[in-house]
Amino acid sequence: MTHHIGAQKGDIAETVLMPGDPLRAKWAAETFLNDVKCINEIRGMLGFTGMWKGNRVTIHGSGMGMPSLSIYAHELINEYDVQNLIRIGSTGSMQHHVGIRDVVIAMTASSISTPSAGVFKEVNFAPCADYGLLSQAVTAAQAKGSNVHVGNIYSSDVFYDERPDLNEMMTRHGVLAVEMEAAELYNLAARFGRKALAVMTVSDHLLTGDAIPADERQSSFGEMVEIALEAAFP
Ligand code: ADE
Repeated sequence: MTHHIGAQKGDIAETVLMPGDPLRAKWAAETFLNDVKCINEIRGMLGFTGMWKGNRVTIHGSGMGMPSLSIYAHELINEYDVQNLIRIGSTGSMQHHVGIRDVVIAMTASSISTPSAGVFKEVNFAPCADYGLLSQAVTAAQAKGSNVHVGNIYSSDVFYDERPDLNEMMTRHGVLAVEMEAAELYNLAARFGRKALAVMTVSDHLLTGDAIPADERQSSFGEMVEIALEAAFP
């Protein structure tokens, strides 16, 4: 047990999928895994371990934002020896060619700051995905015929942004989409020698105001869960 995870040492698999929303962790585990066991309920941050095509996998919520994700990723890495961490979640498109329901795979994640800023100090560290997981995810997405985009994303500290000029600058620099967790996940994976990737479904569009209707969210997120599983176990 750790401060935030009630699981015993062997309860968590080497590969963990991390949606922001704990209820989406429950839905994904019940939909895609067999022999599912709930391994964490502390603070309602649900985690489940089960089997996918003969492979043991855990799906555990990260919460919203980099400080929350960093708590869970830290404990998963340092207390449970997790090797592969794959964020699954939603993202807001910052480009006209990236539409709602499309899949975005983050090669790298820009930010204004991350919880690691105090560690890196003057260094502008470039948080990047594990290339093996990235290329396996792209192969899986292409095989499915998904509309997939691979590139730079923006990990923001705020959902309600008072500085629209920052989003505009990201758009001008070709950043595909905005979310709130990937940069710190990639920082932590680099620090502790683990593999990380973020695979996201576009839920809303900053340039057009489009959004996936609430009743369609679950089904469109399923594609991303499958891509993440296939990337982890090619
Ligand atoms: N996640 C999904 N949509 C987002 C947005 N518009 N901003 C930040 N995070 C998001």
